[in-house]
Amino acid sequence: MNQGLFVTFEGIDGAGKSSHVDALAQAFRAAGRTVVLTREPGGTPLAEQLRSLALNTPMDPLTEALVMFAARRDHLVQVIEPALARGEVVLCDRFTDATFAYQGGGRGFDLEVLGQLERWVQSVEALPAGQLRQPHLTVWFDVPVDVAAGRLAAARVPDRFESQPREFFRRVVAGYAQRAAADPQRFARIDGAQPREAVWQQVLQAVRGQGWLP
Ligand code: TYD
Repeated sequence: MNQGLFVTFEGIDGAGKSSHVDALAQAFRAAGRTVVLTREPGGTPLAEQLRSLALNTPMDPLTEALVMFAARRDHLVQVIEPALARGEVVLCDRFTDATFAYQGGGRGFDLEVLGQLERWVQSVEALPAGQLRQPHLTVWFDVPVDVAAGRLAAARVPDRFESQPREFFRRVVAGYAQRAAADPQRFARIDGAQPREAVWQQVLQAVRGQGWLP
């Protein structure tokens, strides 16, 4: 049986990750793999309800962090763990690095508390005690805040995060950079400011580099 793969995609709003996540799903399917394409917050009926609250309802920073991790726990238990156990490929648009970047970096919320929540939520039955479920690979679309803001401006009605000032997103970028520096083996940094085709080539290279695609 194939090995279960857990790949996550990160970056600030407007970084342009979504179309590449879809394309990567196609590439894995063409290689004969079963793919679960999912997102956070979300991915289950309960977590999608929590998503709509998190994106639209004002709440204090601890509540926001708890909602993100509550959605994550449901998603992990209901969707991600079963898919990995079946040997499938899980492609997830955002995961815990987003909480460290947005709630930790952006909102300035206590990283120690986030670390504690991460340890609770990502302890899963399939792994020995003390070991956490983490992505095998995290593709990080690193884009200057001004470039991302330009892309977003045209897009749509902004939610609670998209409507934040550029200074917020500078802190989110710093939050991602800190997570990447702490776990460089897991992260593939993509220069997301390049033209779409060049970005796609970088994404493919990151995944092929792991030997997961021909
Ligand atoms: P995203 O799915 O990228 O939004 P869209 O569907 O509009 O492209 O992400 C939703 C928002 O949630 C995004 O602004 C980042 C934020 N977020 C957090 O603040 N913390 C988290 O832990 C996660 C997963 C997302």
